[in-house]
Amino acid sequence: MKKALATILALAMVFALAACGGGGGTTEPAPAATTPAATTPAATTPAASGPKTYKVGVAIYQFDDNFMTLYRNELLSYFESLNNDTVKYDVTIVDGKNDMAEQNNQIDNFITQGMDAIILNLVQTSSADAAIDKIVAANIPLILINREPLGDNGDESYKGILDNAKVCYVGADARQSGTYQGEIIRDLANKGDINGDGKVSYIMIEGDPENVDAQYRTEFSVKALTDAGITVECLDDQIGNWAQAKGQEICANDLAKYGDAVEVVFCNNDAMALGAATAITAAGRTVGQDIYLVGVDALEECQQMVKDGTMTGTVLNDHIGQSHTAVDVTVKALNGENIQNYYWVDYVKVTG
Ligand code: GAL
Repeated sequence: MKKALATILALAMVFALAACGGGGGTTEPAPAATTPAATTPAATTPAASGPKTYKVGVAIYQFDDNFMTLYRNELLSYFESLNNDTVKYDVTIVDGKNDMAEQNNQIDNFITQGMDAIILNLVQTSSADAAIDKIVAANIPLILINREPLGDNGDESYKGILDNAKVCYVGADARQSGTYQGEIIRDLANKGDINGDGKVSYIMIEGDPENVDAQYRTEFSVKALTDAGITVECLDDQIGNWAQAKGQEICANDLAKYGDAVEVVFCNNDAMALGAATAITAAGRTVGQDIYLVGVDALEECQQMVKDGTMTGTVLNDHIGQSHTAVDVTVKALNGENIQNYYWVDYVKVTG
């Protein structure tokens, strides 16, 4: 059914493009059929000179996100570095403002604007199928980034779409980042058990719960401890939606409520860890002495904090590797080369 709809849509697009004169750079209206003036200049096509231009649409889930800001800036500058006399990438980047309806409109606009490729950082991975269907139907190569649409529920229709030769996902395996966070605590001399009561008591500050990054980091950070035979106690697990202010608020509340019982603060990302660090200092606690704090992303501030000892550790979420891979794959697809379904970039543990 979906396939039939996709075919109809694809055909509709072909006809629509044909009606618009092929969608290339020439927007000259066709001369009216009834007035074939003999004086009409025969050649209207300009000489083939200047670089070949590809239009690339990039939809980011939200500009207001520390990590995705680094990512999109690197993506843009890497595209720019590839421009030369023969090829030019005309990149349009839009802010989904964390609103799926807004992002759907942006995708529709990209399709009508005749983008040659689309790079998509979904607002809601649960809406992946609808968004992907539209882009596939328009026969536009699609490079999904940062938010892997396939959750634990194993969405088969998404898998089917990924089989499409022009769709792929570029990202990092969030399980690895969670495991690294847990290992950073496991490898401490006291294995995270500061008060020596035989268990590691922690609070978990989660990102957007719909996001596999949040789900896997939450699960695998703790699993790394239990796999090492360490007993754990979860004092609290709250949603901070990747945001610094929420991280601070949640951590401050938990420190007020559980006091010295809190031994480890796990944050699904560094932005929330930055907030937690503020709360930890305000509560008179000292990282490395009476509490541990870990995040993910390795934001510059956090790398410095790890060096200074005000953060126990973080995990590099390689925005350079990921954005460059996304661009390289886009270029491959634009050149009509085969692309794989998945491209993975490794996380790296960062400790002092
Ligand atoms: C994660 C990153 C978070 C946030 C999120 C957005 O990979 O660690 O900081 O940017 O992506 O989807």
